Amino acid sequence: MIKFEKSSFVISTKDLNYIFRVLPTGQLEHLYFGNKLVDQNYEAFQSKITAGSGSTIDYVEGENTVALDLMTLEYSGIGKGDYRISPIEIKMPDGTFVNDFVYDSYQILDGVIESKDLPISRANDQKVKSLVIKLIDRKFKIELKMIYTTFFNSNVIARRIIISNNDDKEIVIRKIMSMMIDFPESDYDLITFDGGWIKESHKTKRPLSIGTYINDSVTGNSSNRHNPGIILAKKDAHKDYGVCVGINLVYSGNHYEAVQISNHGLMRVMNGINPHCFEWPLKKGESFETPESVMSYSNQGFNTLSQSFHEFINTHVTPRQFQNVSRPIVLNSWEAFFFDFNQRKLEALAKKASKLGVELFVLDDGWFGSRNDDHQSLGDYDVNKKKLPGGLNGLSDHIHKMGMKFGLWFEPEMVNPKSKLYESHPEYAVKIEGRTPTLGRNQLVLDLCNQEVREYIFEQIKEVLDHARVDFVKWDMNRHMTDMYSSSVGNQGMFFHRYILGLYEILNKITKEYPNLMIETCSSGGNRFDLGMLYYSPQIWASDNTDPIERLKIQEGLSYLYPQSSISAHVSLAPHAQTLRKTPLSTRFNVASFGILGYELDLKYISPIEKKEIKKQIELYKTYRDVFQYGTYYRFNPKDEHQKVWQVSLGNTHILGNFQTLSDASPNLETLKLKNLESDETYEIESIGQSMSISRFGHLISHALPIKINPYGSIMRLISKYKQLDNATESFVASGEALKHGFRLKQQFMGTGYNDQTRILGDYGSQIYIAKKI
Ligand code: GLA
Repeated sequence: MIKFEKSSFVISTKDLNYIFRVLPTGQLEHLYFGNKLVDQNYEAFQSKITAGSGSTIDYVEGENTVALDLMTLEYSGIGKGDYRISPIEIKMPDGTFVNDFVYDSYQILDGVIESKDLPISRANDQKVKSLVIKLIDRKFKIELKMIYTTFFNSNVIARRIIISNNDDKEIVIRKIMSMMIDFPESDYDLITFDGGWIKESHKTKRPLSIGTYINDSVTGNSSNRHNPGIILAKKDAHKDYGVCVGINLVYSGNHYEAVQISNHGLMRVMNGINPHCFEWPLKKGESFETPESVMSYSNQGFNTLSQSFHEFINTHVTPRQFQNVSRPIVLNSWEAFFFDFNQRKLEALAKKASKLGVELFVLDDGWFGSRNDDHQSLGDYDVNKKKLPGGLNGLSDHIHKMGMKFGLWFEPEMVNPKSKLYESHPEYAVKIEGRTPTLGRNQLVLDLCNQEVREYIFEQIKEVLDHARVDFVKWDMNRHMTDMYSSSVGNQGMFFHRYILGLYEILNKITKEYPNLMIETCSSGGNRFDLGMLYYSPQIWASDNTDPIERLKIQEGLSYLYPQSSISAHVSLAPHAQTLRKTPLSTRFNVASFGILGYELDLKYISPIEKKEIKKQIELYKTYRDVFQYGTYYRFNPKDEHQKVWQVSLGNTHILGNFQTLSDASPNLETLKLKNLESDETYEIESIGQSMSISRFGHLISHALPIKINPYGSIMRLISKYKQLDNATESFVASGEALKHGFRLKQQFMGTGYNDQTRILGDYGSQIYIAKKI
């Protein structure tokens, strides 16, 4: 799976090869990343430089066949003729920025090479191998270890760098990318996942042309602005066709991805820690490790690429004890009560939730100190006895007696200036002497660079977890960083990275001490949705936005890089708090079910008929939970911009979700297709019965009723609480080939009449179909 032959390194996964060679001048030339090759002759991929080009610099005088600027390299440096964007910038012992790293030796090892303090994808099977290549600078005793790991079964290759200074003088690293790769062609689109609070991970596609494009974060976390995962796709690539390369970073801090098209049409790609405000001094004998970069390739379009990443994350990133483990259905108290609750209200909500089949009750913000709004008490995790006279233990026991698990919200990395913690330890907060610290959501960031602060946080959480039965923690982080300074770091260029190392240290300690505690991380929703967090927490709260129409964009964006088992998704009330959009309960569930299902609403405001519907939804989700959470996931090319179609498949069960964000007048007759079925087998397919509120029809209902009543009056409101209209269902048997070819749907409502066989989707309508092999 990793070989060295004829000066070339060949790294293989199940379906892919990654190949580079050692040039006679010592650089590593990138040759190939693509589908597995049968031949072992790689000459086809070597640079064919014959006479240089104009102002190009020759690496070796008199020869014009090694011009670094024109070659596809595995890594590069500064000052030797490669003028493209450099992956590394170091102040060398002689004060210059010139470095010249060349090949020295290699080693092939089983498994992964563990890191001292960073999350590194887990080996978990015998087929994981690593290659360590040592490069040394031609002048100074500085070495770069380039580590390549092949995750054979997942079609993923990981890369990272360890740099060591063995020179007597200190060096200062100003930029060090985890990986760099040059592609010989540049006819690619760059796809990134961008946004902000309540609009995370929206997919953006842009054509590339000569110049440099940067995707990054400078907020202190991986951010909701630009996810660290990117995709480079050939122009003709789509869901199931074409070449695409996906690259992501196992890191939760400031990240940086650069894509550059050179003046000779080569494409350079790199990712790693953002060099913004970064400086890392290395004394003699010291080393620095970059986070791990992971990449995959598909020539069958985006679905295959995503499936590789999903498999990889479920097997090599997710904490072992939660791999392939069914994730519980949650009721979260936040949108139900915000800060305004007491034990009685919580228990009443929990009782209703347990009757509906909910498995985990999560008490969100507001349970400690005097936190009745978001101005105080972060940092003081002593329970508010006024709200919870029975303490956390009392509440947790009560919840457990109802047959549910108990979860608790923390925001451990933060402090409010109005808190006991800040009064006694103002020095624990990140701020600069002589400057007024800038608040975000009325809070300051705790200085995780400081060992004492890290211990304090650990002890506080431990104190709570040791005195109440807590099965689940929602670990929140609700602000971007400002006033970056820590007295614990000598060079403030180390601040951002040291913070993240501090965070990983705490998470390591907590997960070791409480291995069965499930952690869901959150950062105002998806402000830290990255592989670094997924290494500790199997799932992440994807967005504070639970409007299903917005979630279609958010969850679909995330699905390119992350599996459904990592995407936490809740059903909330309509009209929605952030968009005021009124969506059917069925669609809220249908979207959330393609992730980790939960509910986040006050069940007091749910009518008896809606309660019945929620009960049915939960039963359905439990029946097909493994398919929803761990099934192979497919996106379809939609018929237009107002449709999304997703499928999940596991074993003999295939679930299709058809979502319509806007209805057309007199819409086209429709067909849906399924993927991944066996052509010669027979399948039973049916749509899930779902009903609609009578109020959906407004005044139109008066045409259908035998008696005249005010469609907006109290009688109609009362009827709607107990009676809903059934929507048309479909149920038939067909061969796998027929369903792959496309099955025709019952006509959609066209304004000419309604009967119980007419499908009513309208704006925001959706339908789930389940196909089972018989
Ligand atoms: C953030 C989270 C929410 C909720 C609140 C509580 O906004 O994203 O889910 O936990 O904090 O303050």
